[in-house]
Amino acid sequence: MSSQPQTFRAPVGTHDVIGPDSAQWENLIAMFAETAFRYGFELVISPLFEDVGVFNRGIGENSEVATKEMYVFEDRGGRTLALRPEGTASVVRAFVQHQPTTPWKAWYVTPAFRYERPQAGRYRQHHQIGVEVLGTDDPAVDVEVITMAWRFFASLGLTRYRLLINSMGHDECRGAYVELLREYLGAHASDLCDEHQKVWSENPLRVLDCKKTACIDVTSKGPMLPDHICDPCRTHFDAVIAALSDLGVEATLNPRLVRGFDYYTRTTFEFVADALDGAQNAIGGGGRYDKLAEQLGAKPTSGIGFGCGIERLLLTRAAENELPLNFLQRTLDCFVVDTTATNAASRLLDELRSAGIAADRAYDNRSMKSQMKVADKSGARFALLMGAQELAAGEVTIRDLRSEDFAQSQETTSRNNVVATILNLLAK
Ligand code: HAM
Repeated sequence: MSSQPQTFRAPVGTHDVIGPDSAQWENLIAMFAETAFRYGFELVISPLFEDVGVFNRGIGENSEVATKEMYVFEDRGGRTLALRPEGTASVVRAFVQHQPTTPWKAWYVTPAFRYERPQAGRYRQHHQIGVEVLGTDDPAVDVEVITMAWRFFASLGLTRYRLLINSMGHDECRGAYVELLREYLGAHASDLCDEHQKVWSENPLRVLDCKKTACIDVTSKGPMLPDHICDPCRTHFDAVIAALSDLGVEATLNPRLVRGFDYYTRTTFEFVADALDGAQNAIGGGGRYDKLAEQLGAKPTSGIGFGCGIERLLLTRAAENELPLNFLQRTLDCFVVDTTATNAASRLLDELRSAGIAADRAYDNRSMKSQMKVADKSGARFALLMGAQELAAGEVTIRDLRSEDFAQSQETTSRNNVVATILNLLAK
């Protein structure tokens, strides 16, 4: 009896990205890298795992992500590590470690790991593009990072997205507000949703974020954070709102917007896409975290940034534009068809690629007919044919695979001139 070897699939909540979808990823990441360069950001790459303390202290050890979703493990040396559930805490840890000159403007592209209930648009490994700026609390930076994301979405062709904004105040004014909210919720606890009736006092701010009608009814009549922030926080927030409006970036104040991590202070924001299903419609989010660097051991240093979900951006792009999936797939310039069973194809490909031409070939000494099929399927612009006859004559036949007129589509050129001829044809 022969036993079949066990087969494996990507773990629940994760996915492989292969062609043609991967062309969309390549395009999006390249566009974000270009945008980040234009805004003065440098790329930062940091480890996918950190001492668990980086995240516990950073995002807050009582936050939902830290308590229920983080992948925590012990390595063989007995260290307790965690896979990054988000990018900000790691980037700030790197800032504290390397002490670059400020303002430090860093961008990143990274997987993020959260043990969530997988569904469309929500995964256990998702991917983010994001930026962080450390070393200034100038409202102009808040405006810059928000505008950067806003314009980036437009450059992806998106049209139906909105910016929701709020101010979380700073430690003191938020602390005073939380006490006020606690008192209010205490008086109305029996009207809250089932879950929050039990846990409202642990973190009263979380009740503001609850989507259940019962909680919305109670909190909408209660005190709202933006009405209770101190004068300097108010001045900062007003400056951000005014400058965004001046730049034509439409912001909608959402006093319920309290994001899931404890590090946020002052400006917080979220971008939602109307083409996505309501529960998973956040395509990006971020805000200030003026205490985070200090919590991770640096001298007081302000910070702000955002992270956007690559999967959600691509889902939005597909939903809004109805682009065929292979819309952005790049195609080869040349496909070499070689039946000489010599090293001729390898040599020609080496020259073509060194000259900047995208080229591929068939393998395994297949027949001319079978190689031509692969050439057609590859989407390449030209087939370069090398048979025994061409080899003997020192020539190569160039066939335009996009031409309807078979007779007109073919020309023979000397082997020495192929690369120059192709470069000429491509430039036309
Ligand atoms: P976040 O809101 O948790 O913020 O995540 C940022 C974005 O990542 C979300 O808006 C969403 O598009 C995407 N995302 C989050 N979780 C998932 C998931 N399970 N599946 C698919 N996509 C997801 C942060 O992570 C902060 N670090 C953002 C930030 C940067 N704040 C300041 N700087």
